[in-house]
Amino acid sequence: MDIKAIKEYLGVDWLAVQNQISSSLKSDIGLLNATNDSILAHSGKQLRPMLALLMAKACSGGSVSDAAIKYAAASELLHNATLLHDDVADDSDKRRGVPTIMSLMGPAVSVLVGDYWLVKAMELILDVSDDSAKVMRIYAKTLSDLAEGEMLQLQKAQKGDTDERDYLRIIYNKTASLFEASCVSAAISADASEEMVKAAKDYAVALGIAFQIKDDILDYVGTDAVGKPLGADILEQKITMPLLGAMANAGSQKEQEVRTKIYDIVSHPEYRDEIVQFVKDNGGLEYAVSRLNSYVESAVGALNMFPASVAKDSLVELAHFTADRVM
Ligand code: IPE
Ligand code: IPE
Ligand code: MG
Ligand code: MG
Repeated sequence: MDIKAIKEYLGVDWLAVQNQISSSLKSDIGLLNATNDSILAHSGKQLRPMLALLMAKACSGGSVSDAAIKYAAASELLHNATLLHDDVADDSDKRRGVPTIMSLMGPAVSVLVGDYWLVKAMELILDVSDDSAKVMRIYAKTLSDLAEGEMLQLQKAQKGDTDERDYLRIIYNKTASLFEASCVSAAISADASEEMVKAAKDYAVALGIAFQIKDDILDYVGTDAVGKPLGADILEQKITMPLLGAMANAGSQKEQEVRTKIYDIVSHPEYRDEIVQFVKDNGGLEYAVSRLNSYVESAVGALNMFPASVAKDSLVELAHFTADRVM
């Protein structure tokens, strides 16, 4: 099953999530509604709510509760909020193949609309009476992870000393933590056992890390299909898995030279092409792909304890999609 087939398989539950997202965002402020509509018109892959519904089904034996729908919608609202903020932080002019809200309407609108989507996500979680405090706490941690991850990324960019441990912490914080919140809240909505919640978490964390490694690979070798600016990471002084791999392969003297160039890149943007070539010539992409594949394997392995089901097969499928995707 590909992504489209998974959405079809989710059927009415998928539609319920879409409806929940758009009805949550309704406001009597025309400018806000118009901005929301233009974001919803280019909705992206919607991977997080897909994961949430599949995980709820894998844990429950097939049923999807009202709470699962709300949590799934909340994860996508929150994801979009973080993108609206991230495009300001990264001064990014394109996403999902179209101009960003930040480039069309300015950073203030992007931040404010991001805040709005964030709060709508929180309200949806609070609407679920049973476990809302527990799930709010999970999402609160994710939000704090996100902010810490972005700040650590900035701190590391200024120093140019990111190593693989720092990188893994950054990508856990900025990406995998939300995958985790999405899958764990779905498992909770299905009254899953402690072991199952743990498996949902292990799957989501490994998948989230794999997902961000692939995002970082696409920044080097992606095509227009990615729909956002490419080759941006080095210019933003982000040292990611492909570059870490190339530096490890090239030896410490070469590594020092490259790190110095990254440190100086703001005043020497012409270094970028040279560094991209360095990554390609020194096996950086192969290194990143091999690390990516091992996280995909761990994600699939975490699903072992789930009974056989179409939902479980789809979760396996999504793990492979994460590695193979071109967008
Ligand atoms: C983009 O996430 C941000 C990252 C965590 C890499 P997605 O690639 O899931 O974004 P959309 O929602 O499909 O555009
Ligand atoms: C991941 O960071 C996005 C968030 C967690 C908000 P990036 O800056 O790498 O994401 P893209 O490449 O802009 O989607
Ligand atoms: Mg960005
Ligand atoms: Mg990126």
